[in-house]
Amino acid sequence: MAELPVVVIADPIDRAAIAALEAGPCRVVDASAEPGRLDDHLPGAWGLVVRSRTKVTAELIAKAPRLALIARAGVGLDSVDVATARARGIQVVNAPAAATASVAELSVALYLLLRRELLPAVAATRAGRWERGVRGHELAGTTVGFVGYGRIARAIAARLAPFGTRTIAYDPFLPASPDATPLVGLDALLAEAEIVSVHAELTEQNRHLLDAAAFAKMRPGAYLVNVARGPLVDEQALLEALRSGRLAGAALDVFETEPPTRRELLEDPRVIPTPHLGASTAEGQRRAGEDVVAEVLRALRGEPPISHAGAHHGPTEGGLR
Ligand code: MLT
Repeated sequence: MAELPVVVIADPIDRAAIAALEAGPCRVVDASAEPGRLDDHLPGAWGLVVRSRTKVTAELIAKAPRLALIARAGVGLDSVDVATARARGIQVVNAPAAATASVAELSVALYLLLRRELLPAVAATRAGRWERGVRGHELAGTTVGFVGYGRIARAIAARLAPFGTRTIAYDPFLPASPDATPLVGLDALLAEAEIVSVHAELTEQNRHLLDAAAFAKMRPGAYLVNVARGPLVDEQALLEALRSGRLAGAALDVFETEPPTRRELLEDPRVIPTPHLGASTAEGQRRAGEDVVAEVLRALRGEPPISHAGAHHGPTEGGLR
């Protein structure tokens, strides 16, 4: 009897998804509980399923001579060396739509927290101060500028429409806006937006896209929200923009290094730091598991993938958050 292809699960993913894979024409090795022993399973692996913990580097790929498929249970592919995989003829798939609603909802929550200055109000009330003065603004009439206008930013724009929020977007890879949000240049976006919200895939070209020069162009008193990838923002420049009072605050779900190390940023009361939890809802992770396993099963059947992971369309397409 022919040997079944081995699919190695490197990172924890939804249990039901693993069960669905186990019912497929493969042998599943769940190595997620013992990351230190992943290397032992690589020589026999036909497929490798990862989330965020395992970085699929050229070095890792070299340890898996039979590898035919890398499947990421998430959106971004910056943790996978797609070029090396491609050069070896290894297919790369992902779950690009699974977490759209989760990340969109998180973003709206962060806009509300920032714009209404809710966390300082909570802190003051807890500290026994009853501060009932006028503070904050409505999302109605606020301008939100999306840096990157793919699946997630569009889902946010749709959720903001009933608030009466004005949305604008910068996306050099879109020939035209797909909806009512106008596309503008980056400088115009920075000058106009009260909230600059980052939703681009991380590439070698857009590291520190939001740097000191960009912050200097932002509206005084504006907010920055980053739920995409930490290195898109120069954290040192962000700190300085906060210190100088140019920016009123920021919400960061992602950091240049994770876990983050810049204490000043984490401890600044104007910054809302969260632990890269944008996609980590029960629903988002259930869908990520389902979608990625469906891709693995398609590959096992020799069918083409539905996700176009690794088909690089620039900073905001394909692996867009
Ligand atoms: C993603 O790319 O899917 C998100 O950043 C969440 C994750 O890494 O799990």
